[in-house]
Amino acid sequence: MNIILQATARDAALLTARLLAKALRDRPALVLGLATGRTMEEVYAHLVRMHRTEKLNFSLCRTFNLDEYAGLPADHPSSYRAYMEHHLFRHINIDPRNTHLPDGMADDLNAEADHYEAKIRVCGGIDVQLLGIGSNGHIGFNEPLSALQSRTRVTALTPATRTQNAAMFGGKAQRVPARALTMGVGTILEARRCLLLATGPAKAEILAQAVEGPLTAMVTASALQLHPCCTVIADESAGARLQNQTYYRWLFANDPEWADFRTVQKKRPVRGMQP
Ligand code: GLP
Repeated sequence: MNIILQATARDAALLTARLLAKALRDRPALVLGLATGRTMEEVYAHLVRMHRTEKLNFSLCRTFNLDEYAGLPADHPSSYRAYMEHHLFRHINIDPRNTHLPDGMADDLNAEADHYEAKIRVCGGIDVQLLGIGSNGHIGFNEPLSALQSRTRVTALTPATRTQNAAMFGGKAQRVPARALTMGVGTILEARRCLLLATGPAKAEILAQAVEGPLTAMVTASALQLHPCCTVIADESAGARLQNQTYYRWLFANDPEWADFRTVQKKRPVRGMQP
């Protein structure tokens, strides 16, 4: 796991967008796993800007979102499909047929979950999976005690998650659907690369548990410790509870892998570490 700490949430979102843009330029037919939530809004704003001003080309890109609420039609303003259309899809040159979210209105949600996995397989698997983290440590909607080998399925949302996501439902947690379709932890771990973005002080404690705490189904993001190619990007406030900040900063400042991405945070001596 690589941890990259950025000074501000803006810097963290920009770096995330730059990493995604590089992956897309390197492989125009990229299979991109997408996430929703407030954290991602700025990432998508950067991708839209890069499409407009830097000709970032999505014409061959295929996308798979992590999750969707059960029982919400795609055109419901609080659906994740509506979120994606609003923040990204309608502003870029992606073929709508190449954008995939689970169908929360399917008659048979279990069959829909299996079908979603099959579609990912047909596309050759996910190249890069973008992830946020819920306040209880979930990735996608993999709530505490989701099996670390779980697949795409229907799941019940915790009261904490319904409260966290209430803003999209007029501030009322009881209006947030009680169930959702989500990629499983096992599905996410099969992506060739994972990129988790966390910003803001509210994520500090859970991010430290996920990154430096024990591997546990109680914090499903901790399963990313098993992933061979996972990068976590956090701003100062989300990274504030991490124990090994000095080491993470030193690595980012010195590892040749990140040479092209240091312009946001200029190379500078890190206290306590020799360059
Ligand atoms: C939802 C999504 C998660 C996302 C989380 C964080 O629960 N299912 O994929 O990571 O929200 O949201 P935010 O960025 O608003 O904190």
